[in-house]
Amino acid sequence: MRNMRKLLNIIVILCVCLDWVRTEGSEQRESGKVYSHTIQVSSLFPSSSSCVLPSKGDYLCQCIISCFIHLKRSRRSTWRTGRARARVLAGVKLRASTMTIDEILRHDQARVNSIHSKLSKKATDGDGVTQSQSTDLPAKNGRTLGSGNYVVTVGIGTPKHDLSLVFDTGSDLTWTQCEPCRGSCYPQKEPIFNPSSSSSYSNISCSSPVCASRTSEGLLSRCSASPNCLYGIRYGDGSTTTGFFSTEKFTLTPSDVFDGVNFGCGEDNEGLFHGVAGLLGLGRGKLSFPSQTKNTYNNIFSYCLPSSPNYIGHLTFGSAGTSNAVKYTPISSFPRASLYGLGIEGITVDDQKLEIPSTVFSTPGAIIDSGTVISRLPPKAYEALRTAFKAKMSNYTAAPGRLIFDTCYDFTGLKTADIRIPRIAFSFSGGTDVELSPKGIMYTITMSQVCLAFAGNVNDDSVAVFGNTQQKTLQVVHDGAGGRVGFAPNGCN
Ligand SMILES: *[C@@H]1O[C@H](CO)[C@@H](O)[C@H](O)[C@H]1NC(C)=O
Ligand SMILES: *[C@@H]1O[C@H](CO)[C@@H](O)[C@H](O)[C@H]1NC(C)=O
Repeated sequence: MRNMRKLLNIIVILCVCLDWVRTEGSEQRESGKVYSHTIQVSSLFPSSSSCVLPSKGDYLCQCIISCFIHLKRSRRSTWRTGRARARVLAGVKLRASTMTIDEILRHDQARVNSIHSKLSKKATDGDGVTQSQSTDLPAKNGRTLGSGNYVVTVGIGTPKHDLSLVFDTGSDLTWTQCEPCRGSCYPQKEPIFNPSSSSSYSNISCSSPVCASRTSEGLLSRCSASPNCLYGIRYGDGSTTTGFFSTEKFTLTPSDVFDGVNFGCGEDNEGLFHGVAGLLGLGRGKLSFPSQTKNTYNNIFSYCLPSSPNYIGHLTFGSAGTSNAVKYTPISSFPRASLYGLGIEGITVDDQKLEIPSTVFSTPGAIIDSGTVISRLPPKAYEALRTAFKAKMSNYTAAPGRLIFDTCYDFTGLKTADIRIPRIAFSFSGGTDVELSPKGIMYTITMSQVCLAFAGNVNDDSVAVFGNTQQKTLQVVHDGAGGRVGFAPNGCN
């Protein structure tokens, strides 16, 4: 464990380079229906142009990304006036690490276990087998920040200091590492934020009502020894941040500046955040960034997660730029959680709707999470998906499974035209059908081990998670004001 942590200390910002070729292949049409996607064999390999090829067989291609950002303007269509109010933060990046595929998958499982224990009445009821493979497991309210997260740049303070933050729809509080790092700070790409050189920074006093709010929002509380309000968060894998709960100016663009945003000035930060300066909390709670800026953006944001580091996605605040093609499903609530719940009703493989009783999904419920890499399905739903998928893939050589993956193929030596994977679509409540991008269906470990990118939960009553691999290239809208989440195809490459 400690060695792994040390290894992770070296991480800067690297990316998993699952570089499916841009033209992901032709679609085979038959009597008006698309039956399958053809993917190019070469596209399953990491891109050689931008990647350092792995030195060990089971390392993913890792490449340093230039985490550049560019801010684009877009027009708003909100409830106020016609003035531009939505802001696009481009530069959403695939971020992973020098973690091996196994570490990525273990951390992903730690995050999911943590979500499960957070939502479960039976708190000890995790996903037994895989849980034991995870390190430092979930404190009760914890979550894990593994790899496969996405990063945007936000300006903090006066003068503004640009910082790369992982954005996370599964938590609320935004925080960044702060000098003088009285505890410890890990290495990050940009200089660490120093509140003493910002004229807009202020501490929150312990007696302030705002200070009390952080506890009700699930943060750890510690105030007795300090006149200043403190915060602490422990994530599912044991990563922690503690420091001053403060207010500061946040700048998204020169015209989108927010004074007095509550955030965490983290002076003791340990764990798996390496490379980024902190986290942008996009959850449903009062302390989240969308909640704190709702007078401007009406608690609406959308994003597109790019399929590879060669492409730029976006995170957009406000409703501008939301395409007409977006189809919505209602957000369902989970008690005491900042999570976005949604209702999965069914899964279709090619043109075949799987026979899954509706209670299989409705009993545990489901959430959408930007930080979970691989979607988790109720066991019976996963089994039905796997059976249908295997039937469509019967012409390919099976390969051994890998941790949470149990349906893998050996594509060694195959030609482009020889590989066809079936289409997969999800039906969400409200009659919303969402077809996944082919990039959201399989996960390439090596050419001889390409796996169905889903996993089953161990327990029937564990919540399902719609993860970020399955969200790739979709435009995903989180409309907190309207109580709905929406999807449209082709949000980015
Ligand atoms: C905030 O509190 C810290 C710790 O007490 C102190 O060092 C710092 O000067 C304070 N900052 C401001 C702007 O009051
Ligand atoms: C498997 O290969 C055979 C022979 O090439 C072909 O006729 C059949 O359609 C293929 N099956 C699938 C599911 O692709």
